[in-house]
Order: sequence, then structure tokens, then C-alpha cells
Amino acid sequence: MSSVMRCGHGRTRGLPALLVGALTLAFALTGGPATAAQQDTLHELAAAQGKYFGSATDNPELSDAAYAATLGSEFGQITPGNSMKWDTTEPVQGQFDFTKGDVITAFAAQHDQTVRGHTLVWHSQLPSWVGNLPPAQVEAAMTRHITEEATHYRGAVTAWDVVNEPFNEDGTFRTSPFYTAMGTDYVATALRAAHAADPDAKLYLNDYNIEGLGAKSDAMYALVSELLDEGVPLDGVGMQAHLAVQYGFPYQMQANMRRFADLGLDVAVTELDVRMQLPSDTAKSDTQAAYYRQVVEACLAVERCVGITVWDYTDKYSWVPSTFPGQGAANLYDENLLPKPAHGAVRTALGAGDDGGQGGEPGAFKAQYRNTDASVGDNQIKPGLQLVNTGGTAGDLSDVTLRYWFTAGNGAATYSSWCDWSPIGCSHVTHRVVAMDTPEAGADHYLEVGFTGGSLAPGASTGEIQLRLNKTDWSAFDESDDYSRGSGTSYADAPKIAVYAGDELVWGIEP
Ligand code: XIL
Repeated sequence: MSSVMRCGHGRTRGLPALLVGALTLAFALTGGPATAAQQDTLHELAAAQGKYFGSATDNPELSDAAYAATLGSEFGQITPGNSMKWDTTEPVQGQFDFTKGDVITAFAAQHDQTVRGHTLVWHSQLPSWVGNLPPAQVEAAMTRHITEEATHYRGAVTAWDVVNEPFNEDGTFRTSPFYTAMGTDYVATALRAAHAADPDAKLYLNDYNIEGLGAKSDAMYALVSELLDEGVPLDGVGMQAHLAVQYGFPYQMQANMRRFADLGLDVAVTELDVRMQLPSDTAKSDTQAAYYRQVVEACLAVERCVGITVWDYTDKYSWVPSTFPGQGAANLYDENLLPKPAHGAVRTALGAGDDGGQGGEPGAFKAQYRNTDASVGDNQIKPGLQLVNTGGTAGDLSDVTLRYWFTAGNGAATYSSWCDWSPIGCSHVTHRVVAMDTPEAGADHYLEVGFTGGSLAPGASTGEIQLRLNKTDWSAFDESDDYSRGSGTSYADAPKIAVYAGDELVWGIEP
């Protein structure tokens, strides 16, 4: 007998606020219907359209194994969030340190990813010695910095943000040590120095709030037009795209991209995120998903738009909360590395599901178990289970089931089963007890656990699913010989719990 809908019954009501808060994580799993293309990564989907899909990253995050697994598998391009900036690479005049950036380029090489170098000349994260130089010495210092860094990364970096954020919001040039020393010429000087150091790298000017038509993008348009007229080496314009649901979508992004493309330039979305005033709610997260989708659609519509980089892929490592107090939740994956609705929107915009439902590998999963019930002779069986995605792509949960085998003993042949708690939300978990046609040693029934849908990011775990079952007459079990039972009270890989994708056994050993 199944009791699929009883999950959490009578139990969550009394939970402390902290746990009830965690139940909202469940919404991260409602990623829409599964398709065969679920197995394609964001980058594979983009590459099928002639674009890359990338993410920013930073050195400290790479020690987070689950984070690094998704970074390495889902994205075809990475940008160091900080490690190639001037304050890191030349903190003291003439003392260059490329150690951190080298870690990023090594990661990219291992994962077959390209790297956008970010950034050579910028007013921010600039060591104070540059601003303290007499203006007459700034050009030489800038040229030396560009030459050393672009030479060091030659071959490892495919594109450089040579100059970052040259403009004020009204389209006037931003004051910086470079502008003060050289006027607007510093941009051409920087581009020429970068080209001399690495003739193969694509050279970009990069800025924010130039995604739509407006004064600031007009200024960028005028500058790049002039640079091209003068024969200055320039390949593209980077639109950072730090968007916010409360500020609306950039005005005519696609038309704006197209006018740059029509000059013969590449366009890249270099730092996409969509922040919101916290807390998130359904309306904000829907708007966010729509903005992500619209950015992808704009890029797809403009041939010279070469790709999209998100400014890190997870809320766990977003720059937003510390920069914009009270705002956050800006990224495609939540703080638990679970994909959010925006992730599904990007996938759909990139054409996921357009393959006619062909093929698709079963997901790679494993089960972990802990015993939450010391008594082997009482009237309940209480396994704690968690499902982990061990594969390199998001795992579709809609047809994944787990089995926990046990023996029934005497008493009623009908059962009730329960999900008492899970961080993904018991409403997303299904469960029932099934009698086996052919009993085996230690097994004549199993508890089958499934999911209402959603997907699990590579390396991610559902977290604990606290399960419970009893016979309807509440007669006692003898769990001592049960096939799937273990005595460990903390989570460990459990080969006697099986995981199936559809009909296929993908983890564990059946009795
Ligand atoms: C941000 C980084 O993500 C943060 O870690 C750092 O503290 C500040 O800079 N525009 C840019 C990026 O060009 O370099 C910025 O990165 C985000 C805004």
C-alpha cells in the first residue's frame, strides 16, 4: 500500500523556524519537466548555437569540491573575478605576481575551457602606488603592466578586458590616474600595448550599464567607432550586464548589441547577474528568470555576440550581497548549488528540449544512508537517505527512485510511509512500500522513494530525507536481518540502497 501524499504529515508543523525556512529550498528543485536535453550542459547548449557559456570564478572557491565540479563541467569559459587585477598582479611597482591567475588558467586547461582575462587597466582594485605616481610616469607604468601581464598569459587567455569601465553614467570619461595623465588617449595606448604583447588575444573594452541604448552606450559606441577609424587594435565590446529586477531590463539590448556588431566588433556579455532586493519571492525570481532568458535571446539573435559569462554561477559566491547591502540571490544556482528557475529559463532559451526527446544518458547518482533508529525490534523503520549526483551534468530527478529493502515479519500486510523532514521539502518526495514478487534473504518488501521533479546539480546532494514506515496494525518488525539496514549513524555511501533512473539500476546492489 502506498501513502505517497503523507510526507511530512503532522511533523513539520512543530519545527523551529530555522527548519521551516530550509523547507523553502524545495522550490529549487521544481525545475520544470525533464527533457532528454537535460543532460547537455549550459556550454554544450550554447556551443550548439555557436556561442560559449562561461562563469566567473575566484581562487578561494576552487577548494569547494562541489562548486568546482559544476564550474568544470557546466561551463566552457571562465573569467577570474579578481586574480588578474592590477592590485593582485603588481601590488608593488615592478613586482609581478601571477600565482593566483595561473591557478585559474590551469583549472581552465584541465577542463577544456577558455579564459577571458580581466582586467588590465581599471580605476578600481588599483594599487595606490599607481595613483601616487607623477602623471608623467603613468603611461610607462601602464604600458609595462599591460606588457608583463599580457605576455605572461599569452596562449592561456583568449580575450582581454583591456580597459574596464572607462565611462561615467552620463557618458563622460571617468576620472582615473590614466585619464588624468593621458586624457582619452590612454585607451588607444592600452590597446596597442596589449596587442603588441599578445597579438592573438581578442581585445575588449568592457563596461556596465552599456547593455541597452542610452547615453553611456552611445559614449562607448562613439569611442569604439573612433578607435576603429584610427586603426587601433580592438576586437570587441564587453557588456557586463549586472542587472537588477528592480531597475528593469536594459532598453533595446538586442538593437544595441547589433549596432556594435555592425561596426565589425564582437560583443560579449561578460558579467551577467540579476540581483534583487532580498528576500526573494516568486515574482522577483520569475522576473529574474525572464531577464536571464532575454539576455540569452539577445545574444543568440546577434551573430557577433560570441558568448555569455555569468558573474559566478551560484549565490554562494556572489559579489552582490557585500556590494549592494540588502540585495542578492542574483545567480543561476542557489547557495546550495541547486539550479534556480533562471537556470531553467537559460536552458530553454539555449534550446534545451529541442532535440525531439532523443536519447539522454541516465544520470549518475549514489545513495547515502544513516540509521536514525537504534531499536531493531520496534514498530517503525526509520532510514535516513540522501541522493548525490556523481555525474558531470545536472541530474533529472523526475524518474529517479531509491529502494530500501526490509523484511515484514508477522502482522498486517499493509503499510504507511512518511517523509518526516528534508531540506528539499517533503512535498517534493514521494514514497511507498512495495511487496516483492520473489523474496530474497533479508528482503520481501522495499520502501521506494522518488521525487516530484526537479534536477540535482553535478556534485550536489538532496540532503537528508528522513523516512519512516510502519505496518498499519503497528505490529513490530525484526530489522536485525534487513538487507538495507546499516548501523552507522552518520551518512555514508550505501551500496545496499539502490538508485534507479527509470528502470535502470545506476547505483547499488540488489538483494
Ligand atoms: C568584483 C568581484 O567580483 C569582487 O570579488 C570584488 O570584491 C570587486 O570586484 N565589475 C567588474 C568586476 O568589472 O571586476 C567586479 O568584480 C564586478 C563589477
